[in-house]
Amino acid sequence: MTRLLLLSLLLSVAAGAYDGAGQPPISRRSFPEGFIFGASSASYQYEGGVTEGRRGPSIWDTYTHQHPDKIIDRSNGDLAIDSYHLYKEDVRLLKDMGMDAYRFSISWTRILPNGSLSGGINKEGIRYYNNLINELLLKGVQPFVTLFHWDSPQALEDKYGGFLSPSIINDYKDYVEVCFKEFGDRVKHWITFNEPAAFCSTGYASGVLAPGRCSPWEQAKCSAGDSGREPYTVCHHQLLAHAEAVHLYKEKYQASQRGKIGVTLNSLWFLPSSPSKSNDDAVRRALDFMLGWFMDPLVSGDYPASMRRLVGDRLPRFTKEQSKLVKGAFDFIGLNYYTTYYADSLPPSSNGLNSSYNTDSLANLSGIRNGVPIGPQAASFWLFMYPDGFRELLLYIKENYGNPTIYITENGFDEANNMSLPLHEALKDDTRIEYHHKHLLALLSAIRDGANVKGYFVWSLLDNFEWVNGYTVRFGLNFVDYNDGLKRYPKNSAHWFKEILRR
Ligand SMILES: *[C@@H]1O[C@H](CO)[C@@H](O)[C@H](O)[C@H]1NC(C)=O
Ligand SMILES: *[C@@H]1O[C@H](CO)[C@@H](O)[C@H](O)[C@H]1NC(C)=O
Ligand SMILES: *[C@@H]1O[C@H](CO)[C@@H](O)[C@H](O)[C@H]1NC(C)=O
Ligand SMILES: *[C@@H]1O[C@H](CO)[C@@H](O)[C@H](O)[C@H]1NC(C)=O
Repeated sequence: MTRLLLLSLLLSVAAGAYDGAGQPPISRRSFPEGFIFGASSASYQYEGGVTEGRRGPSIWDTYTHQHPDKIIDRSNGDLAIDSYHLYKEDVRLLKDMGMDAYRFSISWTRILPNGSLSGGINKEGIRYYNNLINELLLKGVQPFVTLFHWDSPQALEDKYGGFLSPSIINDYKDYVEVCFKEFGDRVKHWITFNEPAAFCSTGYASGVLAPGRCSPWEQAKCSAGDSGREPYTVCHHQLLAHAEAVHLYKEKYQASQRGKIGVTLNSLWFLPSSPSKSNDDAVRRALDFMLGWFMDPLVSGDYPASMRRLVGDRLPRFTKEQSKLVKGAFDFIGLNYYTTYYADSLPPSSNGLNSSYNTDSLANLSGIRNGVPIGPQAASFWLFMYPDGFRELLLYIKENYGNPTIYITENGFDEANNMSLPLHEALKDDTRIEYHHKHLLALLSAIRDGANVKGYFVWSLLDNFEWVNGYTVRFGLNFVDYNDGLKRYPKNSAHWFKEILRR
Protein backbone atom coordinates (compact mmCIF):
# COMPACT_ATOMS: atom_id res chain seq x y z
CA MET A 1 0.00 0.00 0.00
CA THR A 2 2.63 2.50 1.10
CA ARG A 3 4.89 1.42 -1.72
CA LEU A 4 2.13 1.81 -4.28
CA LEU A 5 1.28 5.23 -2.96
CA LEU A 6 4.92 6.30 -3.05
CA LEU A 7 5.27 4.99 -6.58
CA SER A 8 2.26 6.85 -7.91
CA LEU A 9 3.38 9.97 -6.07
CA LEU A 10 6.78 9.73 -7.71
CA LEU A 11 5.16 9.24 -11.10
CA SER A 12 2.89 12.20 -10.67
CA VAL A 13 5.82 14.35 -9.61
CA ALA A 14 7.76 13.25 -12.65
CA ALA A 15 4.90 13.90 -15.04
CA GLY A 16 3.59 16.87 -13.08
CA ALA A 17 5.36 19.75 -14.75
CA TYR A 18 3.70 19.53 -18.15
CA ASP A 19 0.33 21.27 -18.04
CA GLY A 20 -1.00 20.10 -21.42
CA ALA A 21 -0.17 23.38 -23.17
CA GLY A 22 -3.88 24.22 -23.25
CA GLN A 23 -4.53 21.25 -25.53
CA PRO A 24 -7.22 18.59 -25.19
CA PRO A 25 -5.91 15.42 -23.54
CA ILE A 26 -4.97 12.45 -25.68
CA SER A 27 -4.51 8.73 -25.11
CA ARG A 28 -4.15 5.41 -26.89
CA ARG A 29 -7.95 5.18 -26.95
CA SER A 30 -8.18 8.34 -29.08
CA PHE A 31 -6.67 6.32 -31.97
CA PRO A 32 -8.18 3.58 -34.14
CA GLU A 33 -8.10 -0.01 -32.82
CA GLY A 34 -4.71 -1.63 -33.49
CA PHE A 35 -2.85 1.66 -34.00
CA ILE A 36 0.85 1.10 -33.22
CA PHE A 37 3.00 3.30 -31.00
CA GLY A 38 6.76 2.89 -31.05
CA ALA A 39 10.19 4.49 -30.91
CA SER A 40 12.93 4.56 -33.55
CA SER A 41 16.69 4.13 -33.73
CA ALA A 42 19.45 3.45 -36.28
CA SER A 43 22.48 1.18 -36.20
CA TYR A 44 25.29 3.73 -36.61
CA GLN A 45 23.68 6.17 -34.16
CA TYR A 46 23.10 3.54 -31.45
CA GLU A 47 25.12 0.35 -31.68
CA GLY A 48 28.78 1.24 -31.33
CA GLY A 49 30.90 -1.91 -31.33
CA VAL A 50 32.10 -0.87 -34.77
CA THR A 51 35.11 -3.17 -34.65
CA GLU A 52 33.44 -5.87 -32.58
CA GLY A 53 31.78 -9.05 -33.79
CA ARG A 54 33.61 -8.95 -37.14
CA ARG A 55 31.60 -5.97 -38.40
CA GLY A 56 33.05 -4.45 -41.59
CA PRO A 57 33.61 -0.69 -42.01
CA SER A 58 30.88 1.55 -43.43
CA ILE A 59 31.12 4.99 -45.06
CA TRP A 60 30.25 6.53 -41.68
CA ASP A 61 33.30 4.98 -40.06
CA THR A 62 35.49 6.36 -42.83
CA TYR A 63 33.85 9.78 -42.86
CA THR A 64 34.04 10.40 -39.10
CA HIS A 65 37.59 9.04 -38.81
CA GLN A 66 39.00 10.90 -41.80
CA HIS A 67 37.07 14.15 -41.25
CA PRO A 68 36.50 14.65 -37.50
CA ASP A 69 36.31 18.38 -38.30
CA LYS A 70 32.97 17.77 -40.08
CA ILE A 71 31.32 16.71 -36.80
CA ILE A 72 30.63 19.57 -34.36
CA ASP A 73 32.18 17.83 -31.34
CA ARG A 74 34.65 15.81 -33.46
CA SER A 75 32.91 12.63 -32.25
CA ASN A 76 31.86 9.43 -34.04
CA GLY A 77 29.74 6.31 -33.59
CA ASP A 78 32.58 4.01 -32.50
CA LEU A 79 30.89 3.52 -29.14
CA ALA A 80 27.69 5.54 -29.74
CA ILE A 81 25.36 4.52 -26.90
CA ASP A 82 26.59 0.94 -26.93
CA SER A 83 23.30 -0.72 -27.84
CA TYR A 84 25.48 -3.55 -29.15
CA HIS A 85 25.88 -4.55 -25.49
CA LEU A 86 23.00 -2.74 -23.79
CA TYR A 87 20.15 -3.84 -26.07
CA LYS A 88 18.32 -5.67 -23.29
CA GLU A 89 18.10 -2.49 -21.31
CA ASP A 90 16.84 -0.62 -24.38
CA VAL A 91 14.08 -3.20 -24.83
CA ARG A 92 13.15 -2.83 -21.18
CA LEU A 93 12.75 0.94 -21.64
CA LEU A 94 10.38 0.34 -24.57
CA LYS A 95 8.38 -2.13 -22.53
CA ASP A 96 8.27 0.24 -19.52
CA MET A 97 6.77 2.99 -21.68
CA GLY A 98 4.12 0.63 -23.02
CA MET A 99 5.43 0.91 -26.59
CA ASP A 100 4.05 -1.63 -29.08
CA ALA A 101 6.99 -1.58 -31.50
CA TYR A 102 10.66 -0.74 -31.99
CA ARG A 103 12.07 0.51 -35.29
CA PHE A 104 15.80 -0.24 -35.54
CA SER A 105 18.13 -0.68 -38.50
CA ILE A 106 20.42 -3.53 -39.44
CA SER A 107 24.02 -2.63 -40.19
CA TRP A 108 24.75 -4.10 -43.64
CA THR A 109 28.42 -4.67 -42.73
CA ARG A 110 27.54 -6.61 -39.57
CA ILE A 111 25.81 -9.11 -41.87
CA LEU A 112 28.15 -8.92 -44.89
CA PRO A 113 31.44 -7.38 -43.66
CA ASN A 114 32.69 -6.44 -47.13
CA GLY A 115 29.25 -5.70 -48.54
CA SER A 116 29.06 -8.72 -50.85
CA LEU A 117 27.86 -12.26 -50.37
CA SER A 118 31.23 -13.44 -51.73
CA GLY A 119 32.93 -11.98 -48.63
CA GLY A 120 30.91 -14.31 -46.43
CA ILE A 121 27.96 -14.05 -44.05
CA ASN A 122 28.97 -12.99 -40.54
CA LYS A 123 27.47 -15.39 -37.98
CA GLU A 124 28.19 -13.00 -35.10
CA GLY A 125 26.15 -10.26 -36.77
CA ILE A 126 23.25 -12.63 -37.35
CA ARG A 127 23.44 -13.66 -33.70
CA TYR A 128 23.31 -10.05 -32.48
CA TYR A 129 20.12 -9.24 -34.41
CA ASN A 130 18.55 -12.59 -33.45
CA ASN A 131 19.19 -11.75 -29.79
CA LEU A 132 17.66 -8.28 -30.20
CA ILE A 133 14.60 -9.56 -32.10
CA ASN A 134 14.01 -12.38 -29.63
CA GLU A 135 14.34 -10.05 -26.65
CA LEU A 136 11.78 -7.68 -28.23
CA LEU A 137 9.29 -10.48 -28.88
CA LEU A 138 9.80 -11.84 -25.39
CA LYS A 139 8.74 -8.44 -24.04
CA GLY A 140 5.81 -8.12 -26.46
CA VAL A 141 7.41 -5.43 -28.66
CA GLN A 142 7.16 -5.83 -32.46
CA PRO A 143 10.32 -5.29 -34.53
CA PHE A 144 10.09 -2.83 -37.47
CA VAL A 145 13.35 -3.31 -39.34
CA THR A 146 15.10 -0.74 -41.53
CA LEU A 147 17.50 -2.50 -43.91
CA PHE A 148 19.54 0.58 -44.78
CA HIS A 149 19.97 3.63 -42.58
CA TRP A 150 22.85 5.40 -44.37
CA ASP A 151 25.77 3.10 -43.42
CA SER A 152 26.83 1.75 -46.85
CA PRO A 153 29.67 -0.80 -46.87
CA GLN A 154 33.04 0.92 -47.37
CA ALA A 155 34.25 -2.04 -49.45
CA LEU A 156 31.54 -1.34 -52.06
CA GLU A 157 32.34 2.36 -51.96
CA ASP A 158 35.97 1.49 -52.80
CA LYS A 159 35.07 -1.13 -55.38
CA TYR A 160 32.59 0.78 -57.55
CA GLY A 161 31.52 4.00 -55.80
CA GLY A 162 28.71 2.52 -53.73
CA PHE A 163 25.29 3.86 -54.74
CA LEU A 164 26.80 5.82 -57.63
CA SER A 165 26.96 2.49 -59.47
CA PRO A 166 24.09 0.23 -60.56
CA SER A 167 26.26 -2.66 -59.34
CA ILE A 168 25.01 -1.90 -55.84
CA ILE A 169 21.53 -3.15 -56.76
CA ASN A 170 22.59 -6.81 -56.81
CA ASP A 171 24.74 -6.57 -53.70
CA TYR A 172 21.86 -4.88 -51.85
CA LYS A 173 19.49 -7.58 -53.03
CA ASP A 174 21.84 -10.31 -51.77
CA TYR A 175 22.10 -8.53 -48.42
CA VAL A 176 18.36 -8.11 -47.90
CA GLU A 177 17.75 -11.72 -48.90
CA VAL A 178 20.03 -12.86 -46.08
CA CYS A 179 17.91 -10.73 -43.72
CA PHE A 180 14.59 -12.10 -45.03
CA LYS A 181 15.91 -15.67 -44.66
CA GLU A 182 17.43 -15.23 -41.21
CA PHE A 183 14.92 -12.91 -39.54
CA GLY A 184 11.75 -12.99 -41.65
CA ASP A 185 10.07 -15.68 -39.55
CA ARG A 186 9.80 -13.04 -36.78
CA VAL A 187 10.02 -9.65 -38.53
CA LYS A 188 6.67 -8.59 -40.03
CA HIS A 189 7.56 -5.05 -41.13
CA TRP A 190 10.52 -4.31 -43.41
CA ILE A 191 11.73 -0.87 -44.48
CA THR A 192 14.12 -0.99 -47.44
CA PHE A 193 15.67 2.48 -47.18
CA ASN A 194 15.64 5.34 -44.71
CA GLU A 195 15.14 8.86 -46.11
CA PRO A 196 16.72 8.50 -49.55
CA ALA A 197 16.10 12.23 -50.20
CA ALA A 198 18.17 13.15 -47.16
CA PHE A 199 20.90 10.59 -47.92
CA CYS A 200 21.28 11.79 -51.52
CA SER A 201 21.09 15.52 -50.83
CA THR A 202 23.35 15.66 -47.76
CA GLY A 203 25.81 13.03 -48.99
CA TYR A 204 26.06 14.13 -52.65
CA ALA A 205 24.70 17.72 -53.06
CA SER A 206 25.61 19.75 -49.97
CA GLY A 207 28.22 17.13 -49.01
CA VAL A 208 27.82 17.63 -45.25
CA LEU A 209 27.15 13.97 -44.43
CA ALA A 210 28.90 10.76 -45.53
CA PRO A 211 30.23 10.07 -48.06
CA GLY A 212 30.74 13.87 -48.22
CA ARG A 213 30.71 14.47 -51.98
CA CYS A 214 29.78 17.77 -53.65
CA SER A 215 30.72 20.26 -56.37
CA PRO A 216 33.42 22.89 -55.71
CA TRP A 217 30.83 25.67 -55.40
CA GLU A 218 29.10 24.07 -52.40
CA GLN A 219 30.28 25.24 -48.96
CA ALA A 220 31.38 21.82 -47.66
CA LYS A 221 34.67 21.93 -49.64
CA CYS A 222 34.39 18.30 -50.75
CA SER A 223 37.36 16.68 -52.47
CA ALA A 224 35.14 15.29 -55.25
CA GLY A 225 31.57 15.15 -56.47
CA ASP A 226 28.93 16.67 -58.76
CA SER A 227 26.00 18.23 -56.88
CA GLY A 228 23.97 18.61 -60.05
CA ARG A 229 24.14 14.96 -61.07
CA GLU A 230 25.16 12.55 -58.33
CA PRO A 231 22.18 13.05 -55.97
CA TYR A 232 19.85 12.00 -58.80
CA THR A 233 22.00 9.02 -59.81
CA VAL A 234 22.33 7.72 -56.26
CA CYS A 235 18.61 8.05 -55.51
CA HIS A 236 17.76 6.43 -58.84
CA HIS A 237 19.79 3.41 -57.79
CA GLN A 238 18.15 3.40 -54.36
CA LEU A 239 14.70 3.42 -56.00
CA LEU A 240 15.68 0.49 -58.23
CA ALA A 241 17.29 -1.40 -55.33
CA HIS A 242 14.16 -0.76 -53.27
CA ALA A 243 11.91 -2.09 -56.03
CA GLU A 244 14.07 -5.21 -56.54
CA ALA A 245 13.98 -5.91 -52.79
CA VAL A 246 10.20 -5.52 -52.67
CA HIS A 247 9.70 -7.87 -55.62
CA LEU A 248 12.09 -10.41 -54.15
CA TYR A 249 10.20 -10.32 -50.84
CA LYS A 250 6.80 -10.53 -52.49
CA GLU A 251 7.75 -13.36 -54.83
CA LYS A 252 9.76 -15.55 -52.48
CA TYR A 253 8.98 -14.73 -48.87
CA GLN A 254 5.73 -12.88 -48.32
CA ALA A 255 3.38 -15.84 -48.75
CA SER A 256 5.09 -17.86 -46.03
CA GLN A 257 6.39 -15.09 -43.77
CA ARG A 258 3.28 -12.89 -44.02
CA GLY A 259 5.05 -9.59 -43.49
CA LYS A 260 4.77 -6.16 -45.13
CA ILE A 261 7.44 -4.14 -46.87
CA GLY A 262 7.82 -0.43 -47.57
CA VAL A 263 10.24 2.48 -47.62
CA THR A 264 10.72 5.44 -45.28
CA LEU A 265 10.58 8.89 -46.91
CA ASN A 266 11.23 12.24 -45.27
CA SER A 267 9.34 15.36 -46.17
CA LEU A 268 8.80 18.80 -44.76
CA TRP A 269 5.57 20.69 -45.34
CA PHE A 270 5.90 24.09 -47.05
CA LEU A 271 4.05 27.39 -46.85
CA PRO A 272 4.36 30.18 -49.44
CA SER A 273 6.63 32.85 -47.91
CA SER A 274 4.09 35.44 -49.07
CA PRO A 275 0.81 35.00 -50.95
CA SER A 276 1.48 34.78 -54.68
CA LYS A 277 1.01 32.37 -57.58
CA SER A 278 4.78 32.07 -58.00
CA ASN A 279 5.29 31.13 -54.34
CA ASP A 280 2.45 28.59 -54.52
CA ASP A 281 4.28 27.07 -57.48
CA ALA A 282 7.52 27.07 -55.44
CA VAL A 283 5.73 25.14 -52.67
CA ARG A 284 4.63 22.53 -55.18
CA ARG A 285 8.12 22.24 -56.68
CA ALA A 286 9.66 21.90 -53.22
CA LEU A 287 7.27 19.02 -52.47
CA ASP A 288 8.03 17.41 -55.84
CA PHE A 289 11.80 17.53 -55.22
CA MET A 290 11.58 16.09 -51.72
CA LEU A 291 8.55 13.78 -51.61
CA GLY A 292 7.48 13.46 -55.26
CA TRP A 293 11.02 12.37 -56.18
CA PHE A 294 10.00 8.96 -54.71
CA MET A 295 6.21 9.01 -54.45
CA ASP A 296 5.70 9.78 -58.15
CA PRO A 297 7.80 6.81 -59.34
CA LEU A 298 6.29 4.55 -56.65
CA VAL A 299 2.73 5.49 -57.55
CA SER A 300 2.95 6.40 -61.26
CA GLY A 301 6.24 4.94 -62.52
CA ASP A 302 8.13 8.18 -63.30
CA TYR A 303 9.63 11.30 -61.73
CA PRO A 304 7.47 14.44 -61.32
CA ALA A 305 7.10 16.56 -64.48
CA SER A 306 8.69 19.53 -62.65
CA MET A 307 11.85 17.49 -62.03
CA ARG A 308 12.00 16.30 -65.65
CA ARG A 309 11.67 19.89 -66.84
CA LEU A 310 14.14 21.51 -64.43
CA VAL A 311 16.79 18.80 -64.16
CA GLY A 312 16.74 17.69 -67.80
CA ASP A 313 19.27 15.07 -68.81
CA ARG A 314 20.92 15.11 -65.37
CA LEU A 315 17.89 13.15 -64.13
CA PRO A 316 18.16 9.43 -65.00
CA ARG A 317 15.42 7.77 -67.03
CA PHE A 318 13.53 4.60 -66.20
CA THR A 319 13.32 1.97 -68.90
CA LYS A 320 9.80 0.63 -69.49
CA GLU A 321 10.64 -2.43 -67.42
CA GLN A 322 12.16 -0.43 -64.56
CA SER A 323 9.16 1.85 -64.50
CA LYS A 324 6.86 -1.17 -64.18
CA LEU A 325 9.07 -2.61 -61.47
CA VAL A 326 9.04 0.56 -59.36
CA LYS A 327 5.37 1.44 -59.82
CA GLY A 328 3.33 0.05 -56.94
CA ALA A 329 6.37 -1.49 -55.21
CA PHE A 330 5.28 -1.01 -51.58
CA ASP A 331 2.79 -2.24 -49.01
CA PHE A 332 3.18 0.90 -46.91
CA ILE A 333 5.02 4.21 -46.88
CA GLY A 334 7.05 5.18 -43.82
CA LEU A 335 6.95 8.93 -43.32
CA ASN A 336 9.38 11.02 -41.27
CA TYR A 337 7.98 14.46 -40.47
CA TYR A 338 9.75 17.02 -38.31
CA THR A 339 9.07 20.57 -39.47
CA THR A 340 7.62 23.05 -41.96
CA TYR A 341 9.47 25.71 -44.00
CA TYR A 342 8.53 28.76 -46.04
CA ALA A 343 9.12 28.51 -49.78
CA ASP A 344 10.07 31.51 -51.87
CA SER A 345 10.20 31.31 -55.67
CA LEU A 346 13.65 31.85 -57.23
CA PRO A 347 14.32 32.89 -60.84
CA PRO A 348 16.15 30.33 -63.02
CA SER A 349 19.92 30.84 -62.90
CA SER A 350 20.85 32.97 -65.90
CA ASN A 351 23.72 30.84 -67.22
CA GLY A 352 22.69 27.31 -66.25
CA LEU A 353 26.13 26.86 -64.63
CA ASN A 354 26.85 25.49 -61.16
CA SER A 355 23.75 23.34 -61.03
CA SER A 356 22.90 21.56 -57.79
CA TYR A 357 20.02 19.52 -56.41
CA ASN A 358 19.87 22.27 -53.77
CA THR A 359 18.90 24.95 -56.30
CA ASP A 360 17.24 22.95 -59.10
CA SER A 361 13.76 23.31 -57.60
CA LEU A 362 13.99 27.12 -57.86
CA ALA A 363 12.65 27.42 -54.32
CA ASN A 364 14.40 29.15 -51.46
CA LEU A 365 13.43 27.24 -48.34
CA SER A 366 13.72 28.51 -44.79
CA GLY A 367 12.15 28.01 -41.36
CA ILE A 368 12.65 31.72 -40.67
CA ARG A 369 10.89 34.64 -42.38
CA ASN A 370 11.90 38.26 -41.74
CA GLY A 371 13.84 37.06 -38.71
CA VAL A 372 10.83 35.27 -37.20
CA PRO A 373 10.92 31.45 -36.89
CA ILE A 374 7.85 29.55 -38.09
CA GLY A 375 7.55 27.90 -34.65
CA PRO A 376 9.54 27.27 -31.45
CA GLN A 377 13.08 26.28 -32.42
CA ALA A 378 14.76 23.05 -31.25
CA ALA A 379 18.46 22.64 -30.48
CA SER A 380 18.98 21.52 -34.09
CA PHE A 381 19.05 24.68 -36.20
CA TRP A 382 16.80 23.16 -38.89
CA LEU A 383 13.96 22.08 -36.61
CA PHE A 384 10.92 24.20 -35.70
CA MET A 385 7.67 23.06 -34.07
CA TYR A 386 4.82 23.36 -36.59
CA PRO A 387 2.23 20.60 -36.00
CA ASP A 388 -0.29 21.89 -38.53
CA GLY A 389 2.18 21.08 -41.32
CA PHE A 390 2.05 17.43 -40.24
CA ARG A 391 -1.72 17.32 -40.85
CA GLU A 392 -1.38 19.17 -44.15
CA LEU A 393 1.37 16.85 -45.42
CA LEU A 394 -0.68 13.75 -44.57
CA LEU A 395 -3.73 15.12 -46.37
CA TYR A 396 -1.57 16.11 -49.37
CA ILE A 397 -0.32 12.51 -49.63
CA LYS A 398 -3.87 11.20 -49.31
CA GLU A 399 -5.10 13.51 -52.11
CA ASN A 400 -2.15 13.17 -54.50
CA TYR A 401 -0.91 9.61 -54.06
CA GLY A 402 -3.98 7.42 -53.69
CA ASN A 403 -4.15 7.37 -49.89
CA PRO A 404 -1.45 4.75 -49.19
CA THR A 405 -1.04 2.98 -45.85
CA ILE A 406 1.35 5.11 -43.80
CA TYR A 407 3.43 4.55 -40.70
CA ILE A 408 4.94 7.67 -39.18
CA THR A 409 8.43 6.24 -38.72
CA GLU A 410 9.98 9.38 -37.18
CA ASN A 411 8.75 12.54 -35.46
CA GLY A 412 10.71 14.30 -32.74
CA PHE A 413 12.31 17.36 -31.16
CA ASP A 414 15.73 17.85 -29.53
CA GLU A 415 17.29 19.83 -26.70
CA ALA A 416 20.91 20.87 -26.31
CA ASN A 417 23.27 18.60 -24.40
CA ASN A 418 24.09 20.95 -21.54
CA MET A 419 26.82 19.26 -19.50
CA SER A 420 26.39 21.65 -16.56
CA LEU A 421 22.73 20.76 -15.94
CA PRO A 422 22.15 18.46 -12.97
CA LEU A 423 20.50 15.16 -13.96
CA HIS A 424 17.08 15.94 -12.48
CA GLU A 425 16.98 19.16 -14.52
CA ALA A 426 18.10 17.44 -17.72
CA LEU A 427 15.14 15.04 -17.44
CA LYS A 428 12.62 17.90 -17.62
CA ASP A 429 11.74 17.98 -21.31
CA ASP A 430 8.35 19.67 -21.33
CA THR A 431 8.88 21.17 -24.78
CA ARG A 432 9.29 17.65 -26.19
CA ILE A 433 6.01 16.59 -24.54
CA GLU A 434 4.29 19.64 -26.03
CA TYR A 435 5.73 18.76 -29.45
CA HIS A 436 4.45 15.17 -29.37
CA HIS A 437 1.12 16.12 -27.84
CA LYS A 438 0.44 18.67 -30.58
CA HIS A 439 1.69 16.39 -33.36
CA LEU A 440 -0.49 13.50 -32.14
CA LEU A 441 -3.51 15.84 -32.17
CA ALA A 442 -2.61 16.95 -35.72
CA LEU A 443 -2.25 13.29 -36.71
CA LEU A 444 -5.64 12.42 -35.22
CA SER A 445 -7.21 15.26 -37.14
CA ALA A 446 -5.68 13.95 -40.40
CA ILE A 447 -6.89 10.42 -39.62
CA ARG A 448 -10.40 11.74 -39.01
CA ASP A 449 -10.19 13.37 -42.45
CA GLY A 450 -9.30 10.05 -44.03
CA ALA A 451 -5.48 9.77 -43.93
CA ASN A 452 -4.62 6.07 -43.72
CA VAL A 453 -2.07 6.12 -40.88
CA LYS A 454 -1.48 2.91 -38.89
CA GLY A 455 1.31 3.83 -36.51
CA TYR A 456 3.50 6.51 -34.95
CA PHE A 457 7.18 6.16 -33.99
CA VAL A 458 9.04 8.75 -31.94
CA TRP A 459 12.55 9.74 -32.90
CA SER A 460 14.12 8.70 -30.69
CA LEU A 461 14.08 5.99 -27.99
CA LEU A 462 17.31 7.37 -26.49
CA ASP A 463 19.75 10.25 -26.88
CA ASN A 464 22.29 9.18 -29.51
CA PHE A 465 24.89 10.18 -32.13
CA GLU A 466 23.14 12.84 -34.23
CA TRP A 467 25.30 12.91 -37.42
CA VAL A 468 26.99 16.37 -37.83
CA ASN A 469 25.72 17.38 -34.40
CA GLY A 470 27.51 14.48 -32.75
CA TYR A 471 26.44 14.22 -29.11
CA THR A 472 25.72 17.96 -28.71
CA VAL A 473 21.95 17.49 -29.05
CA ARG A 474 19.55 15.06 -27.39
CA PHE A 475 16.57 13.57 -29.24
CA GLY A 476 15.75 10.82 -26.70
CA LEU A 477 12.63 10.09 -24.69
CA ASN A 478 15.29 8.56 -22.44
CA PHE A 479 18.43 10.36 -21.27
CA VAL A 480 21.90 8.92 -21.75
CA ASP A 481 24.57 9.92 -19.23
CA TYR A 482 27.72 10.22 -21.36
CA ASN A 483 29.77 10.89 -18.21
CA ASP A 484 28.66 7.82 -16.34
CA GLY A 485 28.78 4.59 -18.29
CA LEU A 486 25.98 5.54 -20.71
CA LYS A 487 23.40 4.96 -17.98
CA ARG A 488 19.83 5.44 -19.21
CA TYR A 489 17.15 7.48 -17.39
CA PRO A 490 13.55 8.13 -18.52
CA LYS A 491 12.86 11.81 -19.19
CA ASN A 492 9.47 13.34 -18.33
CA SER A 493 8.38 12.62 -21.91
CA ALA A 494 8.92 8.89 -21.33
CA HIS A 495 6.62 9.10 -18.29
CA TRP A 496 4.13 11.06 -20.38
CA PHE A 497 4.07 8.38 -23.09
CA LYS A 498 3.68 5.69 -20.42
CA GLU A 499 0.67 7.59 -19.09
CA ILE A 500 -1.08 8.04 -22.46
CA LEU A 501 -0.30 4.47 -23.61
CA ARG A 502 -1.68 2.78 -20.49
CA ARG A 503 -4.20 0.20 -21.66
C1 LIG B 1 34.81 -9.54 -50.56
O1 LIG B 1 35.55 -10.69 -50.27
C2 LIG B 1 35.53 -11.69 -51.28
C3 LIG B 1 36.27 -12.90 -50.76
O2 LIG B 1 37.49 -12.54 -50.21
C4 LIG B 1 36.15 -11.13 -52.57
O3 LIG B 1 36.07 -12.11 -53.59
C5 LIG B 1 35.37 -9.90 -52.98
O4 LIG B 1 35.96 -9.29 -54.11
C6 LIG B 1 35.33 -8.90 -51.83
N1 LIG B 1 34.47 -7.78 -52.24
C7 LIG B 1 34.81 -6.53 -52.03
C8 LIG B 1 33.80 -5.52 -52.47
O5 LIG B 1 35.85 -6.20 -51.49
C1 LIG C 1 30.52 28.62 -60.13
O1 LIG C 1 31.46 28.02 -59.23
C2 LIG C 1 32.76 28.54 -59.32
C3 LIG C 1 33.62 27.79 -58.32
O2 LIG C 1 33.64 26.45 -58.63
C4 LIG C 1 32.78 30.03 -59.03
O3 LIG C 1 34.09 30.53 -59.23
C5 LIG C 1 31.81 30.74 -59.94
O4 LIG C 1 31.71 32.09 -59.55
C6 LIG C 1 30.42 30.11 -59.85
N1 LIG C 1 29.52 30.75 -60.80
C7 LIG C 1 28.33 31.21 -60.47
C8 LIG C 1 27.52 31.80 -61.60
O5 LIG C 1 27.88 31.17 -59.34
C1 LIG D 1 16.79 32.80 -49.28
O1 LIG D 1 16.14 33.20 -48.08
C2 LIG D 1 17.03 33.65 -47.08
C3 LIG D 1 16.25 33.84 -45.79
O2 LIG D 1 14.96 34.38 -46.04
C4 LIG D 1 17.74 34.90 -47.57
O3 LIG D 1 18.63 35.37 -46.58
C5 LIG D 1 18.51 34.55 -48.84
O4 LIG D 1 19.10 35.70 -49.37
C6 LIG D 1 17.59 33.93 -49.87
N1 LIG D 1 18.40 33.42 -50.97
C7 LIG D 1 18.18 33.73 -52.23
C8 LIG D 1 19.08 33.10 -53.22
O5 LIG D 1 17.29 34.49 -52.56
C1 LIG E 1 23.30 25.09 -19.11
O1 LIG E 1 22.76 24.96 -17.82
C2 LIG E 1 23.21 25.95 -16.91
C3 LIG E 1 22.70 25.56 -15.52
O2 LIG E 1 21.31 25.55 -15.47
C4 LIG E 1 22.70 27.30 -17.40
O3 LIG E 1 23.14 28.30 -16.52
C5 LIG E 1 23.23 27.56 -18.81
O4 LIG E 1 22.66 28.74 -19.33
C6 LIG E 1 22.89 26.42 -19.73
N1 LIG E 1 23.59 26.59 -21.00
C7 LIG E 1 22.98 26.56 -22.16
C8 LIG E 1 23.84 26.74 -23.37
O5 LIG E 1 21.77 26.40 -22.27
